[in-house]
Amino acid sequence: MDAARMHAASPESAAIVDAVLDYSRRRMLATDVPLDKPQPESELRRLVGTTITDQGLGAQRALSVFEHILAPACLTTSHPNYLSFIPNAPTVAAMAFDLVVSASGLYGGSWLEGAGAVHAENEVLAFLAAEFGLPETAGGVFVQGGTIGNLSALAAARETAKERLLAAGRDLPPRWKLVCSLEAHSSNKSAAKIMDVDVIAVPAGSDGVLRADAVREALEEHGDAAFAVVATAGSTNFGILDDIAGIAALKDEFEFWLHVDGAYGLTAMLAPEARGWFAGVERADSLVVDPHKWLFAPFDCCALLYRDPETGRRAHTQHAEYLDTLTDTDEFSPSDYSIQLTRRPRGLPLWFSLATYGVDAYRAAVSETLTLTRRIAAEIAARPELRLVRDPQLSVVVFERDGWERADYDRWSDELLETQRALVVPSSHAGRVNTRFAILNPLTTFEDLVGILDTMR
Ligand SMILES: Cc1ncc(COP(=O)(O)O)c(C=O)c1O
Repeated sequence: MDAARMHAASPESAAIVDAVLDYSRRRMLATDVPLDKPQPESELRRLVGTTITDQGLGAQRALSVFEHILAPACLTTSHPNYLSFIPNAPTVAAMAFDLVVSASGLYGGSWLEGAGAVHAENEVLAFLAAEFGLPETAGGVFVQGGTIGNLSALAAARETAKERLLAAGRDLPPRWKLVCSLEAHSSNKSAAKIMDVDVIAVPAGSDGVLRADAVREALEEHGDAAFAVVATAGSTNFGILDDIAGIAALKDEFEFWLHVDGAYGLTAMLAPEARGWFAGVERADSLVVDPHKWLFAPFDCCALLYRDPETGRRAHTQHAEYLDTLTDTDEFSPSDYSIQLTRRPRGLPLWFSLATYGVDAYRAAVSETLTLTRRIAAEIAARPELRLVRDPQLSVVVFERDGWERADYDRWSDELLETQRALVVPSSHAGRVNTRFAILNPLTTFEDLVGILDTMR
């Protein structure tokens, strides 16, 4: 057995690379990528058989199993009519460059190992920080997703609160409290659970907006224990913004860390007409935005920014003898800013895409989506059998069909997927079932959305 066979630059390796690149090329440039759908485990087991064998199947057979059985059992989340949860819609440049990131053995954890990649990622982070109105000294790291981004930011928030109280000779609270909206993303509550802190879930208004007076009450009640407030810049279920400016203004009266969870919605700040809605973001101590959502990067990618990156570094740098070379220096090492050590430079596909197309293309794409959302919301409002649950703000439209129960939505949603027309699953609000369009793919059309509404008659 030739131990180097799998790594050697050989004719066999060339054939493998060609086959994989050919598949990737066809997939990335296809105009009719199907939506596809999941299969039961038993069916996949039957169709796939055993693929891990002592001798190997060879690249052709393995790729064929993937192309013809496994891939069709995976939803195309970048399909224009994938309209549930929060879709993914990578640009062609971003998708293509993801291959380069894998091809190059790039390590993005430290400056020593990945200076070039980290430099490019940091240019993107600086661009985003400027868009969001953070100071030039802001910085951070690309992490896996909003969940890890929120957890990392909130861990830094608590560490900072602890340092502040200890420095002032004050007692640490018996329980730390995280203040957020009842409608905040589940990942914030999950972060609190992992950190073993209590969640003070403050009710939003009937319009879904968390307002300053409600946050003020929580801050007054919990004092030093309330170490952070999460303001959501685009809720997952509704795409609605909290009153970020009002909440940020509370920093003049109370000492707390303001974290803006903009995993889905902060991207809308790139659209000139939407920028003003985000007043107050510039006062954030930390924020997240997920490029794998509306910034058109492939999975998985979250930009985590700290107003003062030192706060992140103090909370997260790992220390060990074998890491001294990396930590006993002033060089910027991304791993120091979040819960992770080894990291893929996952910001590079976004960097390449931004560098390729320019920022104006992004602004235009986001603006288009905001316009399309308004058009389809007006269409829904005009249909007698449909009712908007709330007026949309960013690019999520939530609506109900008169007289439908959960079973009706389920049947309709299954049929949409079965016929490969769309993925639109039921959701709910305040115990009432509804459905929603989460729109962010520039290839989504008004006509397709209208066609989906027509199936609800
Ligand atoms: C507002 C918000 N925060 C956090 C998250 C979690 O992000 P991720 O799924 O990338 O971990 C999401 C995901 O949809 C979100 O919409």
